[in-house]
Amino acid sequence: MSLPKYFELANGDRMPRIGFGTWQASDEVLEKAVDAALESGYRHFDSARAYENEAALGRALRRWIGDNPARRNELFVVTKLPPGGNRPDLVPEYFNASLKDLGLDYLDMYLMHTPFAFEHVPGDLHPKSPDGSMRVDLSTDLIAVWKAVLKLREGGAVRHVGVSNVNEEQLARLCAVERPACLQVEVHALCQQPALLTAAARLGVPVVAYSPLGSKALADALAEKTGRSYPSLLSLPAVSRAAAAHARAPAQVLLRHALQRGLAAIPKSTNPARIQENISVWDFELSESEMAELGALDRGEDGRICDFSFFQGIEKHPEFPFKK
Ligand SMILES: NC(=O)c1ccc[n+]([C@@H]2O[C@H](COP(=O)([O-])OP(=O)(O)OC[C@H]3O[C@@H](n4cnc5c(N)ncnc54)[C@H](OP(=O)(O)O)[C@@H]3O)[C@@H](O)[C@H]2O)c1
Repeated sequence: MSLPKYFELANGDRMPRIGFGTWQASDEVLEKAVDAALESGYRHFDSARAYENEAALGRALRRWIGDNPARRNELFVVTKLPPGGNRPDLVPEYFNASLKDLGLDYLDMYLMHTPFAFEHVPGDLHPKSPDGSMRVDLSTDLIAVWKAVLKLREGGAVRHVGVSNVNEEQLARLCAVERPACLQVEVHALCQQPALLTAAARLGVPVVAYSPLGSKALADALAEKTGRSYPSLLSLPAVSRAAAAHARAPAQVLLRHALQRGLAAIPKSTNPARIQENISVWDFELSESEMAELGALDRGEDGRICDFSFFQGIEKHPEFPFKK
């Protein structure tokens, strides 16, 4: 089965279906990792204002572009509006801050990071009350924010806009205004999101799988905090069996599973060998029975890792997207 390596977007732009994740990397580590990713052939980079490392990503990308501006067109750069910016009047300000830190003339995709919102506190992307709970802005008008995000395209500084972390009902509501160019959500073997993916396909929204390898750093942090155990995706027997059968690494099986389900995926690694491994997923194919075995690993809502429980009190927000 030869799979398309890109999502074709409305104006003919192409979004590579393997992108590079950048969450939870210090500036210095990220710059080196992005150099390695560019060297390995990645052209799609996923960032966010909330990751607080856009400037480091921008430095590495600009170094690669060098004095050849045509190279910018080879890249597909994505970043996100932080939850503190989910108010229509704040959208241009946060967008411009990202563009400035990245040091680019335009972005390929800008996503609304979450449907819930924090209070806007200049200089603090994650404002908390003294008791540790998030300072949540309960007055969010999701549709008004989406309209402000859509408007960003008018200036030409962003080509496509989309959303992240919304549920089926929210996606349908946003589509009633205008269809997002993509939906970025957690999808992997333990959290396969069949209903959301069916809804997105019906609405014509391509889906990007985040945390496709199980987000070890987040799973470890949550396990320590809550005592809940998070199985390692990489050592699930069905994954190991398919990896052995194809003489591939478990991560490659997980990424190929996402690709054969019609998704894009944005694995993050800071290790050059694993960075290379994660983009080398185009020359083998999982069989129907392997796809079925991997499909059977889904744990539904229990398989979700990034449930935002690290934002204390966030489930009180009226647009909190997940089952409480
Ligand atoms: N929209 C959102 O709300 C949202 C939420 C979460 C994530 N994201 C995006 O999605 C990206 C990916 O998700 P993620 O960072 O949560 O986790 P992930 O990509 O599922 O997993 C990253 C972890 O896997 C390890 N790893 C990477 N390649 C590997 C390989 N080939 N073999 C074994 N281990 C490997 C990495 O360690 P090493 O670095 O040591 O290789 C790291 O610990 C993020 O970086 C971010 O860009 C978006």
